[in-house]
Amino acid sequence: MGPTEQDREKQAAATHAVQGVREGMALALGSGSTVEMAARALAERFPRGTGLRLAVASEGMESRMRSLGLPLTPLSEIDRFDLMLDGADEVDPELDLLKGGGWALFREKLLARMSRSLEIMVDRSKLVDHIGRDHPLPLEIVPFARPYVLRELSRRGLEGHLRRRPDGTDRTDNGNEILDVKLPGPSLSLSALDQELRTVPGVVETGLFLGMAARVYVGLPSGKVEVRQRP
Ligand code: A5P
Repeated sequence: MGPTEQDREKQAAATHAVQGVREGMALALGSGSTVEMAARALAERFPRGTGLRLAVASEGMESRMRSLGLPLTPLSEIDRFDLMLDGADEVDPELDLLKGGGWALFREKLLARMSRSLEIMVDRSKLVDHIGRDHPLPLEIVPFARPYVLRELSRRGLEGHLRRRPDGTDRTDNGNEILDVKLPGPSLSLSALDQELRTVPGVVETGLFLGMAARVYVGLPSGKVEVRQRP
């Protein structure tokens, strides 16, 4: 089976984003299928990663980078990334993001916080009028704290569901769990919710990336890319 329209859109966004990578950069990559396309484009432009310092947000991506011959630099040797390229599960009109569908939200957020600029590559299906439209909000939590966190969510009228992979495993690369929380609707204050959830002991990080993306590249079926800039 050939690439789907969605694959072509992801590829267009990834190819475009990688054109902005310059020799000498410290570059962070998130995780997911669009990031894997960006990594392949990167390996073509910078064989063996020469001239770049690279880090990635998941163990899965670490092995992809090894297979592409792109060596990684330990975080202890990088203070700041010039650029981070990542995908997203949802992007709203303010360029706020929902992430974590690929289990990697904590490392993605950490690398994004370490980056001067976060640029997001998506296909059109990721564009939503409000965050939470198509996906629950993922929370990375400490497993020991799960009963407490579930009760704290319930006190706020929210329900958390422990995520499992098809093979039954349920831990992130950090040894934590993911709770998926259905969000009530468009009228919600995302920043208030984010702040509140992050004060609950046991919640390591949320999948809300608010005010973080500088630019979003939306791949179009024609192979062109629409660039959305933070207003
Ligand atoms: C990882 O936790 C997610 O936030 C990914 O960024 C997202 O799921 C990527 O989606 P694609 O696989 O469609 O690029």
